[in-house]
Amino acid sequence: EPMRFSGVWRFHELLPFCRPDEIVTVGEGQTLLQQADAVAKFVGMNPGQLHLQYEGMNPSGSFKDNGMCAAFTHACMMGAQRAACASTGNTSASLALYCSATQKMKAVIFIGSGKISYGKLSQALDYGALTVQIAGDFDDAMIRVKQISEQLGIYLVNSVNPFRLEGQKTIMFRILEALRWQVPDWIVVPGGNLGNSSAFGKAFAELKQLGLIDRLPRLAVINAAGADTLYELYERRGVRWNDGKVDMDPIRAYNDHMDREGLKADTIASAIEINRPVNLKKCLRALDTMDGVVRQVCDQDILDAKAQVGAGGFGCEPASAASVAGAKLLRREGVIAPSDRVVCVLTGHELKDPTATVAYHTTDQEMFNKVLASRGVQKASHANR
Ligand code: F0G
Repeated sequence: EPMRFSGVWRFHELLPFCRPDEIVTVGEGQTLLQQADAVAKFVGMNPGQLHLQYEGMNPSGSFKDNGMCAAFTHACMMGAQRAACASTGNTSASLALYCSATQKMKAVIFIGSGKISYGKLSQALDYGALTVQIAGDFDDAMIRVKQISEQLGIYLVNSVNPFRLEGQKTIMFRILEALRWQVPDWIVVPGGNLGNSSAFGKAFAELKQLGLIDRLPRLAVINAAGADTLYELYERRGVRWNDGKVDMDPIRAYNDHMDREGLKADTIASAIEINRPVNLKKCLRALDTMDGVVRQVCDQDILDAKAQVGAGGFGCEPASAASVAGAKLLRREGVIAPSDRVVCVLTGHELKDPTATVAYHTTDQEMFNKVLASRGVQKASHANR
């Protein structure tokens, strides 16, 4: 029974849209919750209170497999022959893997020019996906892939796809399982297209409704400072879910502002280099459900946090470390207490995006200058290692 070996499908009763014999799995969701005391110290938490959820241990190396197995299953149920996505690299690696490993579909992938890490690009290429680089960034690629998949009848697997979010709910189920169903005080997650945060809100709302938990953790969504649309709208402009009646005026105004100023997302954490998150409204709902906060962290803080995750655990890619940098910030602000129980979700594997890591630690001045100095980032401080 392959279902038992999937960390997603063993919860299939909680994502009930397919029959057991329709399920597609490549063994996703066998991930790990680690108590990380060294990282807790860095964040300013009491020992034992900080946990890291390593979603990079998925078959394609990121949390995306949790959602991809669900969207892919649905695509097969619909009889799709081809599936497409725009990606900063992890969604595309995941889609390409499901296509190559199952031979059930062809992958069509749109990436923005230049920014995708080689680790992620090499996966799409090796797995045999049709990989198209477009002029523009992720936000441009997202617009193009929506148009093209609609025109050509290609199944779209970006997180606009609701089945993706169903699968991603199981990250929270596994965290609760590992904590013996003691609800943590905080879930901290990086925010890009906002699929994860949306899925987490839905997961907890449903568990509460089913009576499986009696309270909800608070949600912290962490933007990179160079890709901070959610932060801007939620924390600065006060946009709220408001029972589903989201005031669209400030959102439109901010989008117009970005257009007028030619503002493009820009961060070393290329996975979350996104200015127009497609799940914005669903995320606002999750923030409402889970009494959430949003913060932004700069590239320096991301890389410093990432080095700590590496020195005190299994490591992660830059975007993932935004969660730890965000927890540290919230701790400093006093929003998170030292005695709170905090889970930071680490979304991608250490090996996904090594360029920034090497530049951060290297003594090769030329490489450091090229990758980091130009962004105003300083080197690893070995004093506190
Ligand atoms: N962390 C990593 C490693 C990611 O790859 C992504 C998104 C995120 C965080 C943000 O998650 O969109 O649910 O808020 N990567 C997408 C991609 C955009 O194309 O691989 P989100």
